[in-house]
Amino acid sequence: MKIDDLRVSIEGKEIVKGLNLEIKGGEIHAIMGPNGTGKSTLASALMGHPLYEVTGGSVDLNGEDVLDMEVDERAQAGMFLAMQYPAEISGVTNADFLRSAINSRREEGQEISLMKFIRELDAKMGVLEIPSEMAHRYLNEGFSGGEKKRNEILQMMMIKPNIAILDEIDSGLDIDALKVVAKGVNEMRNEEFGCLIITHYQRLLNYIEPDFVHIMMDGKIVMSGGKELAQRLEAEGYDWVKQDLGMTVDTEA
Ligand SMILES: Nc1ncnc2c1ncn2[C@@H]1O[C@H](COP(=O)(O)OP(=O)(O)O)[C@@H](O)[C@H]1O
Ligand SMILES: [Mg+2]
Repeated sequence: MKIDDLRVSIEGKEIVKGLNLEIKGGEIHAIMGPNGTGKSTLASALMGHPLYEVTGGSVDLNGEDVLDMEVDERAQAGMFLAMQYPAEISGVTNADFLRSAINSRREEGQEISLMKFIRELDAKMGVLEIPSEMAHRYLNEGFSGGEKKRNEILQMMMIKPNIAILDEIDSGLDIDALKVVAKGVNEMRNEEFGCLIITHYQRLLNYIEPDFVHIMMDGKIVMSGGKELAQRLEAEGYDWVKQDLGMTVDTEA
């Protein structure tokens, strides 16, 4: 996926201000940045949320123009978003939702068999230490914060996207849940899979080793590096970045 000079506005206010990023198959990228810098706005715009107006730039996925696609077409093209605040959908069970999502990416007549689906679901729920009865509960309804996050990762593992955007998948997780989520992401690693991890904190990156770390401030990527960049942010916060760049933007901690 190649993002070129992307600009996104919400209600007429520009939030993402010319962002460039290329994620190749096999790569895990992390975007870190203070609250309110537009990380979730970027994620929503990439997936095609109608509230977020793309006012400039381009997004290309394997030669296809992503910005020209509807949300479902983006999913069919292999994109996946694990949301910072997953929606609760009453009346749709987790298992039914997953099966529909998997089948929507397959040709008619090529649907996953029920047996294969159940076997795979059991295996992935085992990896993520999700109790089996959760498969039959309504999607995210009454799930704890941590259960919702695990469930997002379960969706990713079952749907097998080519590019996954994980927005604050670590927020609200205790250390055990964090390790489980990391295990799920690490299992996905292969040459056909690219991942964008959006996070406020470095600690998830102790368990998922990113190939590249980017710092986002005021709607742009202002610095890129390897995993050592995340460690420096953890130790020293974001102030040195602003000083290095001579920025005067006010950011919430
Ligand atoms: N739906 C929305 N309506 C109005 N303003 C929004 C909306 N979503 C985000 N914003 C504003 O856009 C800015 C960036 O928010 P966000 O993308 O959530 O940042 P981050 O994820 O980096 O914390 C904030 O000032 C926020 O208030
Ligand atoms: Mg956010």
